[in-house]
Amino acid sequence: MSTGACPIDHGASAAGRCPVSPRASAFDPFGAEYQADPPAAVRWSRDEEPVFFSPSLGYWVVTRYDDVKAVFRDNITFSPSIALEKITPVSAEATATLAKYGYAMNRTLVNEDEPEHMPRRRVLMDPFTPEQLVHHEPMVRRLTREYVDRFIDAGKADLVDEMLWEVPLTVALHFLGVPEEDMATLRKYSIAHTVNTWGRPSPEEQVAVAENVGKFWQYAGTVLDKLRKDPSGHGWIPYSIRAQREHPDVITDSYLHSIMMAGIVAAHETTANAAANAIKLLLENREVWEEICADPSLIPNAVEECLRHSGSVAAWRRLVTRDTVIGGVPVPRGAKLLIVNSSANRDERHFDNADEVDVRRDNATDHLTFGYGSHQCMGKNLARMELQVFLEELTRRLPHLDLVPDQEFTYVPNTSFRGPEHLWVQWDPAANPERADPSIREAQRPVRIGEPSKRGAGRNVTVVSVERAADEVVEVTLAAANGKPLPKWTPGAHVDVELGDVSRQYSLCGDPADLSTYRIAVLKDPASRGGSRYVHENLRPGSTLRLRGPRNHFRLDPAARHYVFVAGGIGITPIIAMADHVKASGGSYELHYCGRATSAMALLDRCRRDHGDRLHIHCTAAGTRLDLAALLANPAEGTQIYACGPERLLDALAGASAHWPEDTLHVEHFTTTQQALDPAVEHPFDVDLADSGLTVRVAADQTVLAALRAAGIDVPSDCEEGLCGTCEAAVLDGEVDHRDVVLTRTERAANNKMMTCCSRARGDRISLRL
Ligand code: HEM
Repeated sequence: MSTGACPIDHGASAAGRCPVSPRASAFDPFGAEYQADPPAAVRWSRDEEPVFFSPSLGYWVVTRYDDVKAVFRDNITFSPSIALEKITPVSAEATATLAKYGYAMNRTLVNEDEPEHMPRRRVLMDPFTPEQLVHHEPMVRRLTREYVDRFIDAGKADLVDEMLWEVPLTVALHFLGVPEEDMATLRKYSIAHTVNTWGRPSPEEQVAVAENVGKFWQYAGTVLDKLRKDPSGHGWIPYSIRAQREHPDVITDSYLHSIMMAGIVAAHETTANAAANAIKLLLENREVWEEICADPSLIPNAVEECLRHSGSVAAWRRLVTRDTVIGGVPVPRGAKLLIVNSSANRDERHFDNADEVDVRRDNATDHLTFGYGSHQCMGKNLARMELQVFLEELTRRLPHLDLVPDQEFTYVPNTSFRGPEHLWVQWDPAANPERADPSIREAQRPVRIGEPSKRGAGRNVTVVSVERAADEVVEVTLAAANGKPLPKWTPGAHVDVELGDVSRQYSLCGDPADLSTYRIAVLKDPASRGGSRYVHENLRPGSTLRLRGPRNHFRLDPAARHYVFVAGGIGITPIIAMADHVKASGGSYELHYCGRATSAMALLDRCRRDHGDRLHIHCTAAGTRLDLAALLANPAEGTQIYACGPERLLDALAGASAHWPEDTLHVEHFTTTQQALDPAVEHPFDVDLADSGLTVRVAADQTVLAALRAAGIDVPSDCEEGLCGTCEAAVLDGEVDHRDVVLTRTERAANNKMMTCCSRARGDRISLRL
């Protein structure tokens, strides 16, 4: 069935032939292949034809990460007005049926254009803030426990029917503030809404679907009338009714009725499907499931990875409002877009090994399952909380859960909402851990509201050896506790090691080719607040530690013609790995190693053995101090300087290389210079978020990162001390007061990015691309 005329002017094309490729014309989002795995079904498009016209759908289809994000980002060129439009044209009979019920679904938030959308979103945001969402956690927890109680002794369950459908529905109703009754009916209604909006029902089905949609619409109206009589209660709808009194032009009657119905679907089906997808995915990847069972701190990141890999919103829609270009392809005004966010989430150009499930993935939060920009899902943190609780309760109480083999998964055929209709699992009730230890039922971890902290994605390692490497320095060799190879790393990389109550960063100084172990060298700092002292006093072969990373913010520029490596004391650790690498690849380099006395210089034997005449030892005790002024007297084009050591060495290097070309000097700091924010010294300012259409106030004693989090904006972060570079944001306007130690002089001067964990605005406002 063709719903859309070919948009190409055939007469104008070279051969007068239709340029829609055979694959594009065969694309069928209601076919078995797309229904089973949308990103796999459009892999060909990601690879060969990332923006194509689908004649059968009448839509242009966008499949690559950058293009999908760019469309989400610009809600003026790409209007969301068709987000809830019926993708299959409605028959006259179905239209009459809908009219019979007075069906008048109109603009809500998700399909509202500017300038109406943003004022409404701002007025209605408060119930979604992390402070408000915290109050819902006990209810989510209680419901989940009760549902698991019902089937835990059965040995077999359809998780969708017996838990994952109804718990998010009840949570959604609580969140919205509507009565819980009529759940069974609602269940039928909301599926009808999905098929009505995103599905391809046959003409006969359309009438039945329209009946349910009409009833759903009427039901929503009845509940709304009830709530209007007493809108004093908790929940988003009573909140919206109250807000209408103050902002009658922004919160209209039509909006309230529409959101009453669309809100239930937005909050319920999305989350129910996401939960079913996540559990299915993890059980299909048993090793990952077991890792989470063994280490529940991985759960927040696992949730994000599941949303990325198998999200519940597979594709979204936008209408093109002016002639434009997407991914190099001209797309005319009036074109309808199917933006396949599930495909973007598996784009290798953005996610390494995108088809694999990696619960420690660094950039899983970049997924587009919640959309992006000014319409990004307002309920994302409620959904994340529910998913965390589900995974936590199931992995703790039923770690031996398994998929019933050979079951066939079916999906309600539609372009967008995706989750298996049934998910059969089985287990041996006799092996339920709480039979042996009833306290397991009650155990729980604090849920993280918001995007996951990088700190969660750690791995356990075992200490293989602890050897003296110099005065007050030990070299520690670590291996993965599960005996598997450790992740790859490159020279300059570091790991974060949790040591008692603190976390410390140590550069890797072993051989990157040997993934069976990592090596770090640790100097006992007399002023240690616990990190290095813990290593020296507590670590023994067989001790276990938790480690995150490796990450590299101190990368070698492969294009340099010559490298000057300067290490001060324990700063030799990243530098030796770099020097090894340059030597192995036949590059030109010199290695300057400065220390108090040779007995205090770690890895010195290895330096002597491997770096021979390239090594220059500068030892205070022997009176052979490094003369930086002489070393750096003559700038040499193509030379890069890499240094790690105490601050005074790095400062001296910065001074001595000031006349060298910009960005010659690359340094790795041991410590941050961050102080607690003093409100007597700092000033508050506004941050305009161009992509989200929001303005966020940053108080004098608050970081930009904290203010963004409070406003529900996801920004990944790690060290939160200006050392690691994870929380970088692009700056569009306003001068930055840089306080990190990551950016180079040139990068600072360019004023086009900032570290949100510590840097601030010089003036009253700053604009970020977020
Ligand atoms: C918007 C996905 C859960 C409320 C959206 C959008 C997507 C989405 C793709 C459109 C974004 C855009 O156009 O950029 C999801 C997924 C969920 C989920 C995958 C679960 C895993 C929820 C929940 C609620 C909710 C639990 C409510 C409690 C909303 C609202 C909008 C929205 C109100 C409209 C925001 C606007 O246009 O300003 N969601 N959602 N969602 N979602 Fe969600």
